[in-house]
Amino acid sequence: MRTHYCGDLRSHHIDETVTLCGWVDRRRDHGGVIFIDLRDRAGIAQIVSDPERTPDSHAIAETLRNEYVIRVTGRISQRPADSLNLKLPTGEVEIYAEQIEILNAVAKPLPFQVSTADTESVREDLRLKYRYLDLRRARMSQNLRLRHEVVKAIRRFLEDEAHFLEVETPILTRSTPEGARDYLVPSRVNPGEWYALPQSPQLFKQLLMVAGGDRYYQIARCFRDEDLRADRQPEFTQLDLEMSFMSQDEIIALNEALVSHIFKTVRGIELPRPFPRLTYAEAMARYGTDRPDTRFGLELADVSDIVATSGFKVFSGAVKSGGRVKVLPIPHGNDQISNVRIKPGGDLFKEATLAGAKGIAYIRVRDDGELDTIGAIKDNLDAEQKAQLLERTGAQPGHLLLFGAGDTATVNKSLDRLRQVLGAQLGLIDPEKLNLLWITDFPMVEWNADEKRWEALHHPFTAPHPDDLADLTTARAQAYDLVYNGLEVGGGSLRIYQREIQEKVFATIGMSDAEAQAKFGFLLEAFEYGTPPHGGIAYGLDRLVMLLAGEESIRDTIAFPKTQQARSLLTAAPSTVDERQLKELHVASTYTPEE
Ligand code: AMO
Repeated sequence: MRTHYCGDLRSHHIDETVTLCGWVDRRRDHGGVIFIDLRDRAGIAQIVSDPERTPDSHAIAETLRNEYVIRVTGRISQRPADSLNLKLPTGEVEIYAEQIEILNAVAKPLPFQVSTADTESVREDLRLKYRYLDLRRARMSQNLRLRHEVVKAIRRFLEDEAHFLEVETPILTRSTPEGARDYLVPSRVNPGEWYALPQSPQLFKQLLMVAGGDRYYQIARCFRDEDLRADRQPEFTQLDLEMSFMSQDEIIALNEALVSHIFKTVRGIELPRPFPRLTYAEAMARYGTDRPDTRFGLELADVSDIVATSGFKVFSGAVKSGGRVKVLPIPHGNDQISNVRIKPGGDLFKEATLAGAKGIAYIRVRDDGELDTIGAIKDNLDAEQKAQLLERTGAQPGHLLLFGAGDTATVNKSLDRLRQVLGAQLGLIDPEKLNLLWITDFPMVEWNADEKRWEALHHPFTAPHPDDLADLTTARAQAYDLVYNGLEVGGGSLRIYQREIQEKVFATIGMSDAEAQAKFGFLLEAFEYGTPPHGGIAYGLDRLVMLLAGEESIRDTIAFPKTQQARSLLTAAPSTVDERQLKELHVASTYTPEE
């Protein structure tokens, strides 16, 4: 059908006769001479149809419209000096079309322009409905290619350099709690019973270690029925790894080599190693989050001890009831941020309240070094407290100090949010920077106030720190997350491999023996047949590609993603099914549509 790809033609092909296939990217009429940009996966070639030189093709060339699928045969020639296009890899040559054949026309007006020359932004719902057209466009086809290159680099490293074995694990499985809701599949042959789609291959990869797999990996599809955001999809892809007989430091070092290999291969970037590390406690203290964006400063200062005895009740009350008072110091904030933005109704006030805070207290450091404060704070800080505040926060004349006071989680959450918003608004983030860092020493469990029980922060198979076994509610976990410019791209841990410790963790999170046996009996039993020490990690592949591509949504790195409402606009999934199908599955719907 064809002899070459459009995008592969170069000057060494001059004088060859070639046959190309592809889409009409655009057609330009230059007073009789017609130029066609012909596009295929490899790129674009310029086709010329001239009423004098190539009369046979000219009548057809006149009828061509954008996105027609055509086949062209012609001779490659050197472009004249004035029409060289150095931006295009094929820009030195053109093909005089001796023959053009229309393989398929476009029957309807295009819902949006597809041409690579067109950079207009298109509504996302249209792009998703006509995804096959969207994927023809330069941006998306580049993203798909990048994703492919990332996966290829991963496979080369893991298979050729690090002896990993790729193993597939079941999609129809039983539920592994990872914190989200399961997608369930009814079993026709086992009436009343359900499979769950995997939230991750966690238990299978651990069982593969029991099986002697030693080093496992999988590009694994995972399913989670959770609230969707720009960086979350109901089905997404993990690069999933598990290793036996390796310490946490060895696992981290191997993963740094893997991530560096990916960056080097697809972006030509040498990442400095080792990557920086922060403990969870330090990250929370300095940034108020376990996934800090360290491309800019604006670190938080804890001033609880300084203001604990202050007469300002919002501060002293917060400390008394076990909470904290922290400060986000903004250099030059006096000039850049008005009171209106901080007070009720202002945008920063809104950000803080969205994160659960009741408001923002603030102090300005005047040019003469005096503190300019609103009434209640001013009258209730003594000279010593004021001096200590300046010292602790590193405040200089011109600084604006934003305060969070209350329970620790809310203070951290609201100041983290303000820090991120202001970091971006004040232009403190260098988009060229790539900050990868590990967060380590997570707590094993956190208190779920709604359900009034402890729950595993990572997952209940994570090994507690050996020094902390006495009380698991305060124990550190041997867990680590990889954070990339403020986004969690991967997370993993050393695993429990002894039955008693696993049972103790289940008990800590309020799981009865009977429940543990019913849900995880197979795992507990496996631990009794010779389980090696093991650990692993999983990366969000979609997120990693998103960051490498400079995109802001993982939908732009997935060929056929779902909307925020978990719908496919292309296939109209999910959909209703026949009553007969439900009957076979022993399922009846209780849903009644609202009037
Ligand atoms: P975790 O739940 O942290 O760990 O998931 C690992 C990584 O997967 C990505 N991720 C998602 N990406 C897109 N959409 C989602 N809904 C979504 N949820 C998670 C994140 C995250 O860092 N079994 C453990 C790993 C282990 O312990 O080895 C696990 O699944 O980038």
